[in-house]
Amino acid sequence: MIWSEEYLKDDWFRAYPVQLKGDIIEERRRKAAQALDRESSLVWGDPIGKLSPQACQADLDRPDPQIGLPEEFEGNREDLEKALRSLMPWRKGPMSYFGIDIDAEWKSDRKWSRVAPHVPDLKGKRVLDVGCNNSYYMLRMLPKEPELLLGIDPMVRYWFNHRIHQLYLQDRRLQFDLFGAEDLDLFPRFFDVVFYMGILYHRRSPIDSLSSVAQAMKPGGTLILECSGVPGDEPYCLIPESRYLKAPGYWFLPTPPALVNMLNRTGFTDIEVFYTHTLEKEEQRQTDWARFQSLEHFLDPEDESKTVEGYPAPLRIYVKALRKG
Ligand SMILES: C[S@@+](CC[C@H](N)C(=O)[O-])C[C@H]1O[C@@H](n2cnc3c(N)ncnc32)[C@H](O)[C@@H]1O
Repeated sequence: MIWSEEYLKDDWFRAYPVQLKGDIIEERRRKAAQALDRESSLVWGDPIGKLSPQACQADLDRPDPQIGLPEEFEGNREDLEKALRSLMPWRKGPMSYFGIDIDAEWKSDRKWSRVAPHVPDLKGKRVLDVGCNNSYYMLRMLPKEPELLLGIDPMVRYWFNHRIHQLYLQDRRLQFDLFGAEDLDLFPRFFDVVFYMGILYHRRSPIDSLSSVAQAMKPGGTLILECSGVPGDEPYCLIPESRYLKAPGYWFLPTPPALVNMLNRTGFTDIEVFYTHTLEKEEQRQTDWARFQSLEHFLDPEDESKTVEGYPAPLRIYVKALRKG
């Protein structure tokens, strides 16, 4: 199987010849697709290549989306389990494939239950999930009947998650591209609803990043943003000296008012912080499907209100905003 060819077959964007510049998208997809053919991708490609397409029942709008019933599976269950295990660590979940239950590092159903009441009607809408990871949230959204549900994530592993979903769901509304937040220029004024969750604090230039989100949205469209930040009533950001929660990729951690100001100045209106909470070890933890260190190893063991580096533990901030008209 030549995986780049499989990836390039899903040319969903050709359905929008007026709104999108197909040739430019195609060129960027070709470049991204090269990573699928690297030897390092065989760790997923080999086991997933053994699975055959099969239509099955799906029950997706539930905390643990179910793809396929155990008795329906027509292939070799060992091959399926091997393919699913190859995608470890599973960050987002829980999910179930033909009765194989995946307990992921994050209990993502909790984030979705906070977000879902604030999500507009998705029926017939073009929806984008930036940094969609293994598509957990998109599976939750699919039963809402969007016209298009595009997830973008530059990590090759997550395309293989998508590949498994497409083998069994066979639903062309569900799409995935190996793009990053830096590729949003490809979609001028295109999306009705954008999810930008767990991304902003990883961006070196958060203001530019939000501006490019705004440019990819239709005027009046809805942004659902979720971001790690720090507590505070003043509009400030924490910039860690080097690491935060042991990771180097945290650049700006805003207070809720700072996040609101960022959105105000980048093309958004009707900005509403609808939920904040301090992350708890019960929501992000080591499991059999995610065996690396998790939140409990990143917080100060003596004082869980602090990270191991001595910074305030992350406050998760949830915001809804509209693209200015
Ligand atoms: C903290 S996770 C958030 C995942 C998910 N959106 C959520 O809220 O649970 C960050 C995600 O961003 C992805 N990512 C990495 N680089 C990216 C980039 N340049 N643009 C968009 N996403 C990126 C990672 O692969 C990962 O899936």
